[in-house]
Amino acid sequence: MSQYKPEPFRIKMVEPIRLISREERKKALVEAGFNVFGLRSEDVYIDLMTDSGTSAMSQAQWAAMMMGDESYAGARSYYRLKAVMDEIFGFKFFVPTHQGRAAENILAALLVRPGQYVPSNMHFDTTEGNIRARGGRPVNLIIDEAYDPATRVDFKGNMDIAKLRNFIQEKGADNIPLGMITITNNAGGGQPVSMENLRQVADTYREFGIPFFIDACRFAENAYFIKLREPGFENDSPLEIAQKIFSLADGATMSAKKDGIVNIGGFLALNDETLFQSVRNELIMREGFPTYGGLAGRDLDAMAVGFKEALEVPYLEYRLAQTAYLGENLLENGIQIIEPPGAHAIYLDAMKLLPQIPQKELPGQALSLALYLEGGIRAVELGTVAFGYVDPETGKEILPKLDLVRMAIPRRVYTQSHMDYVVEVAARIASQAESMKGYRIVYQPKLLRHFTARFEPVNERG
Ligand SMILES: Cc1ncc(COP(=O)(O)O)c(C=O)c1O
Repeated sequence: MSQYKPEPFRIKMVEPIRLISREERKKALVEAGFNVFGLRSEDVYIDLMTDSGTSAMSQAQWAAMMMGDESYAGARSYYRLKAVMDEIFGFKFFVPTHQGRAAENILAALLVRPGQYVPSNMHFDTTEGNIRARGGRPVNLIIDEAYDPATRVDFKGNMDIAKLRNFIQEKGADNIPLGMITITNNAGGGQPVSMENLRQVADTYREFGIPFFIDACRFAENAYFIKLREPGFENDSPLEIAQKIFSLADGATMSAKKDGIVNIGGFLALNDETLFQSVRNELIMREGFPTYGGLAGRDLDAMAVGFKEALEVPYLEYRLAQTAYLGENLLENGIQIIEPPGAHAIYLDAMKLLPQIPQKELPGQALSLALYLEGGIRAVELGTVAFGYVDPETGKEILPKLDLVRMAIPRRVYTQSHMDYVVEVAARIASQAESMKGYRIVYQPKLLRHFTARFEPVNERG
């Protein structure tokens, strides 16, 4: 087994978890419509559904929460957050939002018109959903290596600059109200983007007059990958690297539930004053006054401390090592993952493990359900269910290139023995993979279907 790096913290408060019986897990799955989003968390043993909002806050964050100023306007908490925002992100304006998708919603509502395109390396599901909800079309222009799980490249989240240029020239800059990039690339293996690529992306958008927004959810993890892997940055601190990243962009959306290490929170930041005035008005209508943006004052304080903690080297070292430990041990047990391991999650290649299940019968969904049934582990499908859609122009169903199951690791929550248990369960599933069957959707909403869809096993109706 690969080596495990000891946690740079000790545990001061515990939350009990339990493994219910196999029979109970079976029943829970039926009741959930074979969708792990429908499970009760108390019926889950190891919850790797998401790293979003599920992390453990530090004693410094809890202490900061006690200082929360709950004034409606101009709270001290806001100004403490603003000082950290100015230091790390450096945009002229920002508003807090209750989470990332609220920032995406405001941005899409203000900028995206029906039929327009928004390129990125890969959009995450909520970003896609918010663009589509305004009649826009999210476009993924990532490098080709990203679609080959077994290829190891340092910056597999990079955007393909030639594809981006061609796309802008083909569709016309007037049809592209903003361009984005996601760091790290959650939809494609949590893979980082290099500084060089970020510069080229920024230059390309700027050349065509397209505002450039970074989806910054995992900016600290991305910064640390740059420090470790990109020549010229080995002596920079993660903070300095983050500052350089954001100096390239016109704005950012962020779910602080990731690299803010908080249970709730986010922001929308930008440099354009006119756009900011509209953002503020939207925010007041939907989220709250601009100095709290749908959060309590104490949440702003926890976020301010969390952003700084997420950039500490001992924390980042442990974070990347824990994820790599899980990933490398799954590989050693014959389970293909997206290589190399990213920072926040490991992505299992379901089509490789279950070649007998056609993509339309949802191999990723089958694997995520098997993980729960076999070991009470909750991991989420990021494949045909999450990213498949019907093309509005052709009416054809478009299937994603990969069918993945993401095991996301909450920050500072699980220990080595939990990771070992996950590997054991996955290895047991892999040893009986040939006997597994697919699923079909029996209910789905129009957008973001994976959250509430219901399924049944394909053998149920023959
Ligand atoms: C890359 C990325 N963007 C946006 C979001 C949306 O953030 P939230 O869940 O806080 O709305 C997520 C959440 O998982 C994400 O991973």
